[in-house]
Amino acid sequence: MKPEAAKRQIRAIKGVRDILPPESALWNRVEQTAREVFATYGYGEIRLPIFEETKLFARSIGEDSDIVMKESYTLVDAPDRFERWVKMLATPGWPQDATSRAEVEEYFRGIKITLRPEATASVCRAYIEHGMHTLPGDVKLYYIGPMFRRERPQKGRYRQFYQIGAEVLGQSDAPAIDGEVIEMLMAFFDRVGLTGCALHINSIGCRDCRPKYVEKLREALLKVKDKLGPESQRRIETNPLRVLDSKLPEEQAIIEKLPRIGEHLCAACREHFAALQEQLKLRGIAYEINWRLVRGLDYYMRTTFEITAPGLGSQNAVCGGGRYDGLVELLGGPPTKGIGFAIGTDRVVLSLQESGKVAAAPVLDVFIAWMGAAAYPAAVRLVRRLRGEGLSVELPAEEMKLKKSLGLADKLGARYAVILGENEVASGRFTVKRLADAQQRELGEAELIEFLRSKP
Ligand code: HAM
Repeated sequence: MKPEAAKRQIRAIKGVRDILPPESALWNRVEQTAREVFATYGYGEIRLPIFEETKLFARSIGEDSDIVMKESYTLVDAPDRFERWVKMLATPGWPQDATSRAEVEEYFRGIKITLRPEATASVCRAYIEHGMHTLPGDVKLYYIGPMFRRERPQKGRYRQFYQIGAEVLGQSDAPAIDGEVIEMLMAFFDRVGLTGCALHINSIGCRDCRPKYVEKLREALLKVKDKLGPESQRRIETNPLRVLDSKLPEEQAIIEKLPRIGEHLCAACREHFAALQEQLKLRGIAYEINWRLVRGLDYYMRTTFEITAPGLGSQNAVCGGGRYDGLVELLGGPPTKGIGFAIGTDRVVLSLQESGKVAAAPVLDVFIAWMGAAAYPAAVRLVRRLRGEGLSVELPAEEMKLKKSLGLADKLGARYAVILGENEVASGRFTVKRLADAQQRELGEAELIEFLRSKP
């Protein structure tokens, strides 16, 4: 390695960030609030792998989705095997007929793995793998963790981002389940202190009515094809619903005139959507219908929803979710209904920060200003007792002059400094100093612990 190259500072990769204290305290509070709220609704935590077989995401999220097409972090596990395969294919005599080649290729495709872009697919995979359909009642699970999408980074959009998600899987698609899931979500936003959230809902129909609507939409789009950009033109063929997601200003007026799904739902879907709205009213939850809310993942049917929050600019969706009846079956499991959501933790934290709800700096209760080699063992013992009482204590690893110690204690925001020199150890009396007003007192060890514990 060249010496200049060795010296180059290594930084975090684009779109990926470190979360430092005190901000991490706010993250913990957000995640802890979710745990507490979800527990009151009977959800249990599922811890999932960070990577899965590539196939899982292609099959569930959709081959044509942006996530799978453009944003996946995919790698070949056991690349040496892959290389051997490439060599094998080039060897004369290797069966060149299409079937054998396809079989071998399929085998090697099986070892392609992808960093999870979301976790609903993993939850469904786990539900099947562990036979959770035999469990009594609905299976209610939540997860917290990082997801990976190779998107263009901007405020509120990262390549490693974090979600808090929840899923309900079972035999019922009763709109009351949708209503309760959304109620839990709103309870979380309320508890976490995020104000000004808006709930948008839609129904994107089912296997019966959606294909008919999509055909109508395609026909309408073909008539205005020339006025659309290349991305939307391509989607007319691959997935016309996704055209409704377009944010291009020049396409907005055209999209507003397209046929709307609400007018093409079958009777069962219309009834389900009306019942969902009744459920929301019953729970006192305000909502807006947004007919263009089709979501970027293929597995949805009927209910879809999103929540937007203030202070986030264009990336203002703090949560997305919906119903995905049939996804478990698509992945090889028994017929199952499902609904869930994922909250974007990065965006919740950003929105809280924008509204001034930042985390308070952690409080340092005590700084130990120790001097003299003989004082250190006594300090270690004292600190252990203080920490055992739940106090946060800083014990410098190296000896410092008293003035320097007190200066550092002040900079760290310590409430008290305990002065511990060899004389104090010999007499068993310690000086404790309140840093706010420099008031001092001398106490024995037991009194000192009692004094600090009561945090006067
Ligand atoms: P999603 O809408 O793709 O849905 O993501 C949910 C939320 O994750 C978004 O509303 C946003 O807050 C956050 N998010 C997504 N991408 C990024 C990013 N690049 N940077 C920062 N935050 C981001 C899902 O993932 C579905 N699995 C939700 C679901 C669960 N549906 C049913 N069950």
